[in-house]
Amino acid sequence: MQAAALRRAFYIAGLAIAMLAPVCASAQDTTGDPAAGETVFRKCMACHRVGPDARNAAGPELNGIVGRQAGSLADFNYSPAMKDSGITWDAESLSSFLEAPRQFVQGTRMAFAGLPDAQERANVIAYLSQFDAEGNTTAPAQ
Ligand code: HEC
Repeated sequence: MQAAALRRAFYIAGLAIAMLAPVCASAQDTTGDPAAGETVFRKCMACHRVGPDARNAAGPELNGIVGRQAGSLADFNYSPAMKDSGITWDAESLSSFLEAPRQFVQGTRMAFAGLPDAQERANVIAYLSQFDAEGNTTAPAQ
């Protein structure tokens, strides 16, 4: 009897949390979905790679990009604008950059129009944030 009441209380508390969580998240910022972000990343793959075998291409490889200093790969030929931007990439600066690259880093060589959709930006950032500097994913094994 008591156990059942307790279970019900937990159930209701769980429901309340489940219902509130998305509200809280959207009030602050958009929560990204890494799986959906993998699809968005196809737009970047003309120039960028991530993962253990990632190499620089037209754009720098993006392993460990969240927390990385902008323009900091020694073996990539960045624009002076990117090198001197003083940015350390986090979710916020990445989102601003990806929304309008040439406005956020004036003089960047990244020839990409941008992702106007905030959800797409959040998704691709969530996808990229899974890769550490060596390109290994920190996501739990499937
Ligand atoms: C047409 C090629 C191209 C496409 C498409 C492209 N990029 Fe880039 N990206 C570049 C180049 C070139 C640079 C270096 C810019 C510079 O030095 O000014 C760059 C730089 C970056 C940086 C900064 C890297 C660093 O080391 O500081 C990030 C982050 C980035 N791109 C993310 C993306 C994402 C995410 C997408 C897809 C939504 C994308 N890019 C699409 C060419 C591209």
